[in-house]
Amino acid sequence: MNELISLIKQSSLFSSLSVEEIGEIRDLFASITFDTDDVIFNEGDPVAGLYIVVTGDILIYRHMGGGERELKHLSSGEVFGEMGTLTEAQRSATAKATCASECLEVSKENFNLILDNYRKVERQIMKTLIDRLKSTEENANHYILQAYKSLLLSLSSLAESRDNETGGHLHRVQGYCRLLAAKLATQQQFSEQVNEHFVESIHTVAPMHDIGKVGVPDAILQKPGKLTPEEFAVMQNHSKIGGDIFTKVLKEIAFPTFEMGRNLAQHHHERYDGNGYPDKLAGEAIPLEARIMALADVYDALLSKRVYKPAFTHEKACEIIQEGRGTQFDPLLTDLMMAHIGEFEAIYKQHTGNCNLLGEESQEPVREQDSS
Ligand SMILES: [Fe+2]
Ligand SMILES: [Fe+2]
Repeated sequence: MNELISLIKQSSLFSSLSVEEIGEIRDLFASITFDTDDVIFNEGDPVAGLYIVVTGDILIYRHMGGGERELKHLSSGEVFGEMGTLTEAQRSATAKATCASECLEVSKENFNLILDNYRKVERQIMKTLIDRLKSTEENANHYILQAYKSLLLSLSSLAESRDNETGGHLHRVQGYCRLLAAKLATQQQFSEQVNEHFVESIHTVAPMHDIGKVGVPDAILQKPGKLTPEEFAVMQNHSKIGGDIFTKVLKEIAFPTFEMGRNLAQHHHERYDGNGYPDKLAGEAIPLEARIMALADVYDALLSKRVYKPAFTHEKACEIIQEGRGTQFDPLLTDLMMAHIGEFEAIYKQHTGNCNLLGEESQEPVREQDSS
């Protein structure tokens, strides 16, 4: 019997009770054994009580989309079936023994008796409920976030595909931005601004940097050869259009990641010396995420083939980036990128399998560089 008391005490639900208190209620627990594949309760059954696993393995699963989805396996000391004991709800999942198992069962009536007499157990089940809700919410958020990231990537691909850009470019700039932000996070002076959320957010919105190209006519986007100054001005307008798209979205939902998206879209062609566009911002007035993107975008463009230039070698691309240190690019960020350039090159190689297969790629930002 002592063994039984210590097992009840080990379970999260009753751990706050003293050995004496558990002794007072031990008769409310009934031992019950199951053979392999015995179903303890089915999804949809009325709730009769809760269980503590003594020995064996109990599988909890749910029927979803025509199949079974395993939720968890429970072993000695773990509690199951407690959620329904507080309500009139039906079982939300099925429990079955995967091998010969023993459990302690507490009927719903007896559990209510315990709750009436021991506030500590009541507090504990509240805590369990809150934890359960939190993990359910986190799981749901995870799926929503994944769906939202895929949607952003698809939208961005749509804009880029009109420009003969390859998906490889979007994945690469995503990778460069995350890498550079992660390196920045290790620098003391950026540790507050560049936290984990910043790093993940820039990865999420990086593909949207050229979303404004949806507002540039095909005749300009897809024109082979050099653009006239007028056409070039229309092309440059994509950053303003991109910023406006995000501003409209932000009026509907003030989502911080979209603020970063707006900064990226609007300011990724600003230059550190103030000679960029559209707002001629200079130095640290350019949002940090846009200074990161400027490096990522140009580095990738230099390594890619264009109608009017071959793909530069990696050395040449690095040379051009370094020439732009302090004029086109943030000097600190340039140094940081150069210090870890091997990792950037690895991202380029990783996502370049299908790159250049479409032949000509985007005419910006290298084209813009040519004209500057
Ligand atoms: Fe752009
Ligand atoms: Fe780009």
